[in-house]
Amino acid sequence: MVTFLRYLIILTLFGGVLFWFLTRPQHADADLFAGVSGDAGRGETIFWAGGCASCHAAPKAKDEARLVLAGGYRMISPFGTFIAPNISPSEQGLAGWTVQDLGNALLYGTSPDGTHYYPAFPYGSYQHMTPQDIADLKAFLDTLPPSDMADKPHELGFPFTIRRGIGLWKHLNMSSGWVLKEAGIPALERGRYLVEAVGHCGECHTPRDWTGGLDRSQWMQGAPNPSGKGRIPGISPAKMDWSATDIVYYLETGLTPDYDSAGGQMVSVIANMGHLSKDDRSAIAAYLKALPENR
Ligand code: HEC
Ligand code: HEC
Repeated sequence: MVTFLRYLIILTLFGGVLFWFLTRPQHADADLFAGVSGDAGRGETIFWAGGCASCHAAPKAKDEARLVLAGGYRMISPFGTFIAPNISPSEQGLAGWTVQDLGNALLYGTSPDGTHYYPAFPYGSYQHMTPQDIADLKAFLDTLPPSDMADKPHELGFPFTIRRGIGLWKHLNMSSGWVLKEAGIPALERGRYLVEAVGHCGECHTPRDWTGGLDRSQWMQGAPNPSGKGRIPGISPAKMDWSATDIVYYLETGLTPDYDSAGGQMVSVIANMGHLSKDDRSAIAAYLKALPENR
């Protein structure tokens, strides 16, 4: 009995140390942003490509109001409801944040005080962003109007309230590689960067496994809507027979080849895509058309 207890204590200690080790928050290297200076004009493109306003603008904000990043948007998921925080340049938002802080958040999902963010903030995609783009984005965010809206707590049940456990999620789900391995030409490389990293299209259009991570073997094949209502369509060549021109037109206007207009969460994605250059929308279409036919 005594031996058994001793064994149990050792096992618990070992398990605790392993959990502590596996769930440590990661940070960007201290010199990642050395010599990189941000340009707000270029940052605006990254802001729209990254869809920050879709989650961080007040719900139902339109046009200019989408630049006030007051938070409050509710994201319903099987784990509970996440409420996007204020990220405007104010005391309630990102006042005092450095580029390094923003880098830690976007690349590692780690907060300035060293805790894990929930992956409802799509850093699993943003982790591929370049330091230059993050510095540019920071410069742009600094120019936006402040809001003093206070953050609301997420509405989650146990055990999802324990942030430390997100470290395990990151171990299972943060994949450093690209899904489309061969990009070849520059337009495709740009498309891959816009879709897989900044635009985080896979976060909605790819199904998730039991951990809530993206099932990359079914990339862009469509998925149940996390809100529980309806399905998000597949956009890989196997699931969508639109031409590249159709896709570019849709991303600009929200109109499908059958003259339907886009609905659901795609409405705000299209409001963002309209701010990109035609070349960038074409690069996104080229990427989608280049995904393997067999999936
Ligand atoms: C799909 C919705 C979504 C999108 C898109 C999104 N975020 Fe967020 N973001 C969230 C959620 C939810 C949180 C809260 C995470 C948490 O509490 O762990 C968050 C947290 C943050 C934080 C931490 C704020 C704090 O107070 O600690 C920053 C910074 C941030 N987001 C910046 C951005 C930027 C910049 C973009 C665009 C490149 C962006 N987010 C796009 C949902 C989103
Ligand atoms: C927040 C979730 C979300 C994100 C992020 C998202 N989409 Fe969508 N997308 C949707 C939904 C929902 C629809 C269905 C719209 C409808 O019902 O009209 C859709 C529809 C589409 C369609 C039309 C498919 C069809 O058969 O009607 C295309 C093309 C598309 N998305 C491309 C993209 C691209 C490219 C990105 C990344 C830049 C992206 N989406 C990011 C949710 C999302």
